[in-house]
Parts: sequence; structure tokens; C-alpha cells
Amino acid sequence: MQTLRPPLDPSLFNLDGEHLWVMHCSEGPVPRASLEAVQIFLPKESKPWSLRWVEDFQGIPQATKQEAAKLIGVNTEDISLTATTSSGLQIIAQGFPWQAGDEVLAPLGEFPSNVWPWKALAIRGVDFREVPLWEGHQSGSEAWESSPPPPDAAAETRLLDAITPRTKILALSWVRFQDGLKLDLPWLGSACQERGVHLVVDGIQGVGTHKPDLTGVSAFATGGHKGILAPQGLGFLWTDATFRALLAPPGTWLSVEDGTNFARPCTDFRRDWLADGRCLEPGSPSLLGCVALNASLACLNGAEPGTIEAHVRGLQEALLAAISNDSTWSVEATRLRGLWEEDRLGPVLSFHHLGQGPEFLNGLLQAGFSQGIYASVREGYLRVAFHGMHTQADVAHVAAWLTAPSEGRC
Ligand SMILES: Cc1ncc(COP(=O)(O)O)c(C=O)c1O
Repeated sequence: MQTLRPPLDPSLFNLDGEHLWVMHCSEGPVPRASLEAVQIFLPKESKPWSLRWVEDFQGIPQATKQEAAKLIGVNTEDISLTATTSSGLQIIAQGFPWQAGDEVLAPLGEFPSNVWPWKALAIRGVDFREVPLWEGHQSGSEAWESSPPPPDAAAETRLLDAITPRTKILALSWVRFQDGLKLDLPWLGSACQERGVHLVVDGIQGVGTHKPDLTGVSAFATGGHKGILAPQGLGFLWTDATFRALLAPPGTWLSVEDGTNFARPCTDFRRDWLADGRCLEPGSPSLLGCVALNASLACLNGAEPGTIEAHVRGLQEALLAAISNDSTWSVEATRLRGLWEEDRLGPVLSFHHLGQGPEFLNGLLQAGFSQGIYASVREGYLRVAFHGMHTQADVAHVAAWLTAPSEGRC
């Protein structure tokens, strides 16, 4: 059992002994440093003469993009600041050179952020098609009747087999929001490239704890408010430069050459679009959002590379071992252990209800809240999400909650 210090010192956060927050899959806890950065920056907005053009207006977004690029191991020029995951995906959906009859493929049961931007293309004659990832996989009104992903789920093969000559984009979550399955990005990316299909990734449920391998990937979108531990309202989009060149830019005054050179008349519209990620940005960014996101990213980048992921895996292993002989959880502990061994999990352990239904999971959730444990339920799964600040004591607390005798447990 791992006993090492957590890679993110718990004292960096405002968490206390009364609140065990294992739901960054909904909302990440913001570190004190981000709060302080906002407190330092906000007064400047009320004294605008103290805002500096190069250091603040230009420097803060640039520094934020540098931290974002460092977190996922890419070039800063390929990062665009975007409000949310949805807005990153919308930029791609609206900018891609579609032809009527083209198709977007996605796994069955994606989070709606990765569905509505594609469904909105129906008026341009673009179809959206979902692919079940394993035997018995269901979603929508049947979501609670779905079987959970088995360790040998051939999810990637099913997706690749579903590609047709009409498929232009495969859009998927790296880590799925309800069942927690992590898809193999480099496998899918390379296979998509071979087939002339673009792989577009919703990365929000994996980034911050895990580092994506973007081999063959065309775009990676994320909000900042989950594993990245920033406040809601600012995230980023990474795009491969060749893919980006295919997209029609949304068109803002900051996406063109010389946009901020006021020595040249702004109304001189004979300009080229910028080639880097700025060409996809929505105009003046929220500097307040940037200072917070920048500090959260710096906090994550302050940990030794790979240590957060290894730590989370260690905590998951310990929790699964602690509940492995429990009459209610042994089946799920075995299934999740199988997924863990195959490296098919992101930061979320998603315990399936195994036919016991919403009342059972909600009762458990309420019992957790009364003990100061904050987890979440989505579509038939109880989600326990560990991050770099959690400890072995937290694991013991969660295990005690899950295995405590209570009404309705079998
Ligand atoms: C997989 C996934 N994508 C996206 C989001 C959020 O999207 P947005 O950043 O657009 O609010 C969530 C959760 O809120 C999610 O679980």
C-alpha cells in the first residue's frame, strides 16, 4: 500500500476535515493560490490605469496558455483559450468544411457537451451517429439498464469498425463522465489518421490528473473547472496546426494579424487570419478567469510529472482492495480492478448500481454527505474521484462509508 506524501499538498487547498471532496468529476476544488491571484488582480480592474498592456492584457493570457501547454505536453501556439469544453467543440463543429451527407461518429452516451454541437449541424446535412462500446451498453432513457463496461471492452475496435466513407470526425470523451472508462487516444488517433478521419476529444474528465498522448489527435477541448481545479468559465482548446488550417475561424478582432497594433487603423481590414491558436479565440479573454486558471495550472505543473496519475492509481487500488470482500461491492471491486489493471480508468471509480436502482445510490450518497463525504451519482454509477491532494486516510474514510451496514444493502 502506498504511503507517500500526496503530490499536491492538501494544505494548498481550503479543504478541511469536515469535507472530503471526491467529486472533482463535477467541480474541482480551487487551490488557495488561484483565490489569491484573483484577490490580487481584481482591484486592478477598478483602477484601470494600473493595468499594463504588455504585462497584463497580453502577458496574462500568454502565461496561461504556456501553463496549459505544459500540462498536456504541447506547443503554446496551438492552444486557444475558450470558455468551456462545449465552446471548444462548437468552434470545431462550426468551422469544419462540411459537405451535406458527412457524418460525425461518437460513442454511445457521451456527455451532452459532445453531442449538441454536432447535432446542431443537422441543418447543414451532417448526421450524428452513436456507437455502443460494449455488449449491453445502453444510454438515454435506458441508461440505468445498461451493463457497465467490462475490463475487456473492445471500445476502440467498435468505434473504428463503425467508420464509413461518410465519417469525417470521431468525437469522444477521453474519460467518460458516467462509467469512467478511459479510451486509448494514441490508438484511436493513429487509426483515425490512417482512415482520413479527425479525432476530436473532450478531455475534461481526464486532464489535470492524467496526461493525454495526443498522437494522431486533431483537437482536444476542456473546461477548467474539474481536474484542472480552476473556477468555472475558462478552459482551453488544443488543435493540431494542419487541422486548424482547415477550420473557418469564428472571426474576431484578435484573430487577425496586427489586431492589437493600434498604430495601424483597426478599420484597415486587409489582414490575414493568424495561423496559431489565437485564430480560434472569442475576442478579449476574461483576465480574471485567466489569473485563476493560470494559478491552478501552475499548481498542477508544480507536481513532478506523472506523480498525480500514479498517486490516483495507488489510491484507487487501495480502495478497491479495501472493499473487495464486501458483499455489496465485491463484484464491482473485481470489475473495476480489471479495468484498473488494463489502464482503462481515469481519475473516477464509477461503481455500477448492479440493478439496485437510483434509490440505493441516492441513499448511499446522502449517507456520505452526512459523514462529510461528497461523491456524485450519474446514470447508474456512484462516482468517487481521487486527485493529487487525497490521502490514504481519505481512502479509509470512503471505504468505511461504502461498507457500513445500512438499510437496503445486500
Ligand atoms: C465529459 C464532459 N464534458 C464536458 C463537461 C462540461 O462541459 P462544459 O465545459 O462545456 O461545461 C462535463 C461535465 O460537466 C463532462 O463530464
